Order: sequence, then C-alpha cells, then structure tokens
Amino acid sequence: MTQLSPATTTTPTGGAPGAETGWWRDAVIYQVYPRSFADGNGDGMGDLAGIRQRLPYLAELGVDAVWLSPFYASPQADAGYDVSDYRVIDPMFGELADAEALIRDAHGLGLRVIVDLVPNHSSDQHAWFRRALCEGPGSPLRDRYHFRPGKGAHGEEPPNDWESVFGGPAWTRTSNPDGTPGEWYLHLFAPEQPDFNWECPAVRDEFRTVLRFWLDMGVDGFRIDVAHGMVKAEGLPDMGRGGQLELLGSQVLPFFDQDGVHEIYRDWRAILEEYGGDRIGVAEAWTPSADRTALYLRPDELHQAFNFHYLGADWDAGQLRRVIDESLDAMRPVGAATTWVLSNHDVVRHRTRLGGGLDRAHAATLLMLALPGSAYVYQGEELGLPEVEDLPDEVRQDPSFFKADGQKGLRDGCRVPLPWTAGGASYGFGGGGAWLPQPRGWADLSVEAQTGDPESTLELYRRALRVRHDHPDLGAGDAVQWLPAPEGVLAFRRGSFVCTANTTEDAVDLPAAPGRALLSSRTTESAGTLLPGDTTVWWTTS
Ligand code: GLC
Repeated sequence: MTQLSPATTTTPTGGAPGAETGWWRDAVIYQVYPRSFADGNGDGMGDLAGIRQRLPYLAELGVDAVWLSPFYASPQADAGYDVSDYRVIDPMFGELADAEALIRDAHGLGLRVIVDLVPNHSSDQHAWFRRALCEGPGSPLRDRYHFRPGKGAHGEEPPNDWESVFGGPAWTRTSNPDGTPGEWYLHLFAPEQPDFNWECPAVRDEFRTVLRFWLDMGVDGFRIDVAHGMVKAEGLPDMGRGGQLELLGSQVLPFFDQDGVHEIYRDWRAILEEYGGDRIGVAEAWTPSADRTALYLRPDELHQAFNFHYLGADWDAGQLRRVIDESLDAMRPVGAATTWVLSNHDVVRHRTRLGGGLDRAHAATLLMLALPGSAYVYQGEELGLPEVEDLPDEVRQDPSFFKADGQKGLRDGCRVPLPWTAGGASYGFGGGGAWLPQPRGWADLSVEAQTGDPESTLELYRRALRVRHDHPDLGAGDAVQWLPAPEGVLAFRRGSFVCTANTTEDAVDLPAAPGRALLSSRTTESAGTLLPGDTTVWWTTS
C-alpha cells in the first residue's frame, strides 16, 4: 500500500503526478453523509464538529480517505446538493473554521479528505440565479443558466420535452419582474436546482476559483456530482419520447454524457496538477458502458469514477464476473484504477438490496475488497445497517418522493443517522431526536455494541481492511486470474492471494483448499473446503 502523504504536506506520494504510485489506486474511501454521521451540537442534525470527533473511529476502521457529501450553504431542497454559496459552510453544519480543523485533524490521522463539488446546477437561491430572475429576460446573467421562452402561442409549454430525474418536466416557468408569465429555466433535478450553462465563460471561471478555494484549504480531491451532465446537446433537442429516465445509464442522452464535457475535465486536471498531482477528481458519471466511463479517466482528465455498473449487478456469479471483466478491461487502456462500490446515499443499502441479509452483505463486501483497485464504503455499511423501509411519509425529505407522481421515496431509507452507542435518545448520534427516526433495535447495530465482538460486521470490516492493507497482492492492480469453480462460485487469484465467493444459497464443496484461509465472511466458521452459501473466503498461498 502507498504510504499516506495527505495534501497538506506538499510532497506528492512519489513518482510523477498521476503515475502508477498514486494513492487513490488502492484506496478505500469512506463516504460520510454529514447530516447523518454524527451530531456535535445536539440539534438532531449531523455536522462537521460531529465528524471531527469521530475521525479516530475512521482511522481505526482502516480506511484511507473520507469523502464528505456537500456541507455548503444550501436551502436543503436536495439535502445539500442545491448549493447557494460554494465557499460558505451551511450554518447547520458549522463554519469554515470547522472545515479547516476537520481537514487538519484528518491529515493528522493519515486520512485524506475528498469534498463534493456540485457543478451541474446551483440552488435557486444562489445569488446569480436570484439576480437573473430579478433582472428579467435579456439580462446577461440569464446566460449563466438555461433560460428559454416557452413553446405554444403564449409560451405556455416547456421549451423541450426533457424530463427531470426527480419526475415531471425538466423546465419551470418563471414570472417576469412585472408579474406576467415569463421564460422557462432548465433543471434536470428539482426545480430548486437550476442547471448552469457551461457554454458561458463566467461559469467556467467561477468553478476554477471554487476548485482553487478548496484546494488551498488542503482538500485531497473532489467528488464531482453529476459529472456527466454539464454539457447539453447543442440546441437542446427534443428526445421525442417519454420514459427518458429508463434510459439513464444505458444510452447517451442529449443532456447526459455528451462528449463536450471532457474539455471541462482537461481544464480541471491542469488545476489539480498545479497542486502537486496527488489531488484527485472522482466522477459521478452515469454512462451507458464501462468504456464510456473510461473516457472520463483518460490521463489528462479525472482519476476515478464510481463503478455504477458493479453496483447495479445482482448477487449472481455470471453477472458479477461479466461486470468485473468489463470494468477491468475498460480501464486498462486509459491506465486508470478501477473502483468498486456497493452502497451510497442514493441507493438501497446493499444488505437489503442484495436480498440475502447480513450473510450475503458480508460476502459481497469481502468480494469487493478483494478486487483490484479502489473501493468505496458508505457510512453504516460497516455496521451492517439495513435500508429503513418503513419511514412514515411525514418524515421523508427526499425530493424524488415529493416531486414524482406516485414514485416511492427511494433515498431516505439509506440516510438514517448512525447508531454509535447502545443507549441514549439517538443511540449516541447526538443529543435529542435525530432528523430521521432510527428504528428500534438499532442498539445491537451500534458501534459500541459491535466493537470487540468477533462475530460483528464492524470487526469483519476492520479485519478485512487490515488484511487488505497488509497483503502485498491486494489493492491496486488491473487484472484477476479466474480459476475453475463450481456453478455459482467465483474464484480468482491475484499473485499469492485467492478469493472464493459462493453466490448461491447452498454450500459448495471446493475441489481443494486454494491455500491457507485468511478470512471468511462467516465470521464464526473455520474455512475448510466446504464453502457455505452466501460466503466469501480469502486465502493465501504464500
Ligand atoms: C447526485 C447525488 C444525488 C443528488 C443529485 C443531484 O446524483 O448523488 O444525491 O440528488 O446528484 O445533485
């Protein structure tokens, strides 16, 4: 594993910027969702002070870096992904001094810090958008967003047929300063999230300075929100069909994954390189294929992209093997490290999603951590938290729940605040009630209850990250060697390391033990040649 050298020390980790030795190539990156991680001031909402207090927990867990979801000034129409000021901390999370202290403390513990950047859209309360509205049609400030007259005799229809990711049309009509109905503006997400117009030089300049602002503060990189969305097809052409969201991630759309977006990343890469080459850009890019994702990771663009194709695979040996091969094959020509992810703040937690409870979740995690490249862990998965599926409607906050006709609120159930202690009003999350209610029974899932229990999910993650860190053949790499295996079992070798994952529910007898067992996802059972159902075992032949 690469020795840590966070960004506050100015020396790169070794080698030329972007060279094979980059720290991100084998990093385990832990996603903190600030409002749900830890509440330092007891108001029921997580904050930077809470995160700062819990950094030693993350260092002890054994992760290499922390990615923080947005904590910027925001009216919170989309939980902070609607930013009204990119250089200000929202008061509910703290202030700039807290962010500085957090970065400093993290670096002191050997943890790197990646912050979220939301460049596709701002909040409708951003000063630019508010002024653009006030000044009315013809104002140059309107060029910074996508304002258009409506279609129809009185401009009463949206300018094109694009649909919002959260449901309904991607356009909202404005009122003119005199109160008459006015132009429409584009928002691929909620109406409170107007899309920037990236053809406008002022937008490009603004984000260059935002990048520098956070780089100067010492961050080690950016997770780029909707990285596939900033450039729209020229003329904003109609799609000519409904159900556009079904095509998300399977087809290039006039508003997603347009080739012009890569120019922005070449520009940003040059800025990252100015800061020493070990600062990274991570794309949240929903693309139709691993090959399209690889385009974001060409040597002069970004460093990593989330592997949503892996996240989308069922717990099925055939599907998993296909997506693993496709991911590795796609990254090889551009020389980028592959990433792996099972859970994040937008999807059903993998303990629930994979349909096999904790055993399957443990097996899936050990498989992921054995693969070559970097892995993303979402807060709470190390506690084995399930999706909370019975939140009452009145506590839900996800805009996709409110805005989409009849669509279920998909994302609040993975955002429920973490249980830290077995007792206390919010299981040690903070003082009083948490912003989303934690289910009864989460005492047993708390950090306190699991610490020191060899059968717990938390201790399994700690052991797995330790082995991954220490084993010379785990972590970075671009290939696996598949071994013959019974139906439903994945078996691969990486040097002296072997991983076997049984994706079926039935025990399978391996022809022979592939080596000495290092770790099993069935924490209580010793690994012989009998591989229980929904189980992953790590072996070494050295
Ligand atoms: C990304 C975020 C998601 C947010 C959306 C709009 O997909 O992960 O949480 O709602 O962008 O910013």
